[in-house]
Amino acid sequence: MGEGMPLIRLARVLPWLGLLLWTALPVQAQGERFNDEPVIARGKTLFQEHCAVCHGANAQGIDQNWHRPDENGRYPPPPLNGTAHTWHHSMEVLAQVIRKGTLEWGGSMPAWEETLDDDDVFSLIMYLSSLWPDEIYQAWLKRN
Ligand code: HEC
Repeated sequence: MGEGMPLIRLARVLPWLGLLLWTALPVQAQGERFNDEPVIARGKTLFQEHCAVCHGANAQGIDQNWHRPDENGRYPPPPLNGTAHTWHHSMEVLAQVIRKGTLEWGGSMPAWEETLDDDDVFSLIMYLSSLWPDEIYQAWLKRN
């Protein structure tokens, strides 16, 4: 156990640290909004077809008390337009909620994996996030 040990360890780790930073930085720096209009338009159509009935025509929610559970402990569908906390969830988590729904967790959103494929789910998330103000969108990007 010489004094050189920690240095040797550091030397082994540094290149990896560098690689990590190098791959993480562009993501942090760019912050550009997704703007593939056909994808967003497709998400909007799907949303109106399948989701608007619960989440409101423009994802604004239909129950102002969406953060309060009803007498059965179920929550009303929240707004998805950036005014609630949808942006707290990473892309992957949102996709999971949409695919699996929340029935298994005691919620009341149906699963969509039988009806919608991965591209559909992606375009839905891109439509929803396109509604969010830039500040919220940027905060969301950092979670992805
Ligand atoms: C039958 C009503 C209903 C329909 C239809 C529905 N949802 Fe939901 N959704 C809910 C409820 C209720 C919640 C809140 C979670 C819970 O307690 O079940 C929710 C939660 C969510 C969340 C998580 C939001 C957050 O802020 O955490 C997302 C994302 C979402 N829904 C997207 C969709 C999309 C996309 C569709 C259409 C493909 C859809 N929902 C269709 C009822 C619905």
